[in-house]
Amino acid sequence: MAKVITLSGKGGVGKTSISAMIIRELRRDPSKRILAIDGDPAVGFSTALGVEVKRTLDQIRMDVVNSGKSGEKETKAELLARLDFELAGALAEDRGFAFLAIGRPEGKGCYCKINEFLKQMIAELVPNFDYVVIDGEAGIEQINRRVMEKVTHLLLVSDASKKGIQVAKTIHGVAQGCMAYEKVGLLFNRLRSAADIEHADTGPIPILGYLPESEKLRNYDIRGDSLLGLPDIDVTRKFGLILREFLGS
Ligand SMILES: Nc1ncnc2c1ncn2[C@@H]1O[C@H](COP(=O)(O)OP(=O)(O)OP(=O)(O)O)[C@@H](O)[C@H]1O
Ligand SMILES: [Mg+2]
Repeated sequence: MAKVITLSGKGGVGKTSISAMIIRELRRDPSKRILAIDGDPAVGFSTALGVEVKRTLDQIRMDVVNSGKSGEKETKAELLARLDFELAGALAEDRGFAFLAIGRPEGKGCYCKINEFLKQMIAELVPNFDYVVIDGEAGIEQINRRVMEKVTHLLLVSDASKKGIQVAKTIHGVAQGCMAYEKVGLLFNRLRSAADIEHADTGPIPILGYLPESEKLRNYDIRGDSLLGLPDIDVTRKFGLILREFLGS
């Protein structure tokens, strides 16, 4: 059974960086098939992974819609064939994982359609992989729309702020009503010391641990370097342990 990990939390707390660090850890085992999904229309996961986005899921969808085919079934089958093709291309690049970005609806498009499409695609694609990592957009919208309905691991990320914890709690509350996850946990990020979260009240959400503020990570981001190239340092080692515990691997 594939492990599907989705990340969620307040804006700017480190979801994308941590998603990339998950791929960095999982890639250590070359026998595992990994799919990284950028669920954020702002598309930042690709940069963190050093991947060039050739076509987003929305562009593929629009191609098929515009090709004038009619009939639900035919369209869906063709979409899947195209998607397989795109994924095969992504995997062929031999970087050890497939990558998919949902992209942004063109013009004034509504996000409902692309979110619905993403949901269907996730369901179709998951069985082909051992791990699927979804870097979600900030806030509760995608959780609320049940885009990530069938994940196995819900990883909430927060900084030490009360606001960040509150957003995580809200997401957790919404997720409980509409998601079938197996495991949930909160990872604190960018802490100066453990004292930052001494009085943190995360309610029913188990705390997985915390990652320190890292100068190295910051510099990678400033330069736009892929986080896959991070060396084994304090923050990555600590994260590796937390992740293995969370995934039970
Ligand atoms: N542990 C850390 N130490 C230092 N800088 C960090 C750390 N984690 C994340 N950052 C930096 O914080 C900023 C925000 O991180 P990131 O883009 O991963 O957050 P996000 O939650 O994905 O944001 P958004 O909600 O906008 O998608 C980036 O500049 C990143 O380099
Ligand atoms: Mg992000």
